[in-house]
Parts: sequence; structure tokens; C-alpha cells
Amino acid sequence: MIVRILTAGLLLVGASASAGRAQDPDAGHRLAEKWCVNCHVVAPGQERATSTGAPSFRDIAAQKSMTPMALRVFLQTPHDRMPDLHLSHDEIDDLSAYIVGLRDPGKS
Ligand code: HEC
Repeated sequence: MIVRILTAGLLLVGASASAGRAQDPDAGHRLAEKWCVNCHVVAPGQERATSTGAPSFRDIAAQKSMTPMALRVFLQTPHDRMPDLHLSHDEIDDLSAYIVGLRDPGKS
């Protein structure tokens, strides 16, 4: 009986671990080029975006406080000067992976 409960528990743990979808920075990059370029400088070398005063993604990534968690929170909450883009959880995951990935150009 105990063995059975333990086995069930292990199966549950395994299932929930694999259910989490891997973040995809490339997909995040594509999303950013579609939805964020109007206001943010997304990729290095991009012409200046609009004059909204939005920081470039590289500058955002350079902030120590900009963890994937902080980005996720930011992108889930409405902001004065940035429109609510109605991003899905997957899109937010991909975008934060992409932005945080800009921090160290050597990797990714
Ligand atoms: C309509 C213009 C606009 C669009 C589109 C836009 N942003 Fe922004 N964003 C801004 C502005 C303006 C700020 C600065 C907000 C402030 O300082 O209060 C900002 C700030 C941010 C910040 C926080 C920077 C910080 O230092 O706190 C993040 C992260 C961010 N944007 C990500 C994104 C992402 C990801 C997208 C695309 C999915 C996006 N933005 C699309 C205008 C925009």
C-alpha cells in the first residue's frame, strides 16, 4: 500500500515537472520584433524606435533587478506609458527568456 502511494507520488512529480513548457528565447525574439519594436529598441543596430522614451531591451537586460520573474510581473501588469499587450503566459515566458538572454551576448 505504501509503495503504491509512493509510486503515485513519484508519477505526479514527474508529470508536473515535464508539463512545464521550455522557454523559447527565439520565439520571444520574434514576438518582440512584432510587438515591441515600435517603442523599444529590440535588437542592437536597430534604428531608434519612437520617441516614447522606452528603454532599449539591452538596457532593460542590463539592470540587475530585471530577473525573469521581475519581467514576468512587469509584463503581466498594466503600465501607464506602456499599453497592455495581452500576452499569454507562454509569450511572457518566451519574451522574458529573450530579454534576459540579451544580458550576456557571449551566450545564446
Ligand atoms: C506603445 C509603446 C510600447 C510598446 C508597444 C511596448 N513598450 Fe515596453 N515600455 C514602453 C515605455 C514608454 C516604457 C517605459 C515605462 C516607464 O518608464 O514607465 C516601457 C517599459 C518596458 C519595460 C520596463 C523597463 C524598466 O526598466 O522598468 C519592459 C520590460 C518592457 N517595456 C517590455 C516590453 C515588451 C516585452 C514589449 C513587447 C511585447 C513592449 N515593452 C512593448 C513602451 C512600449
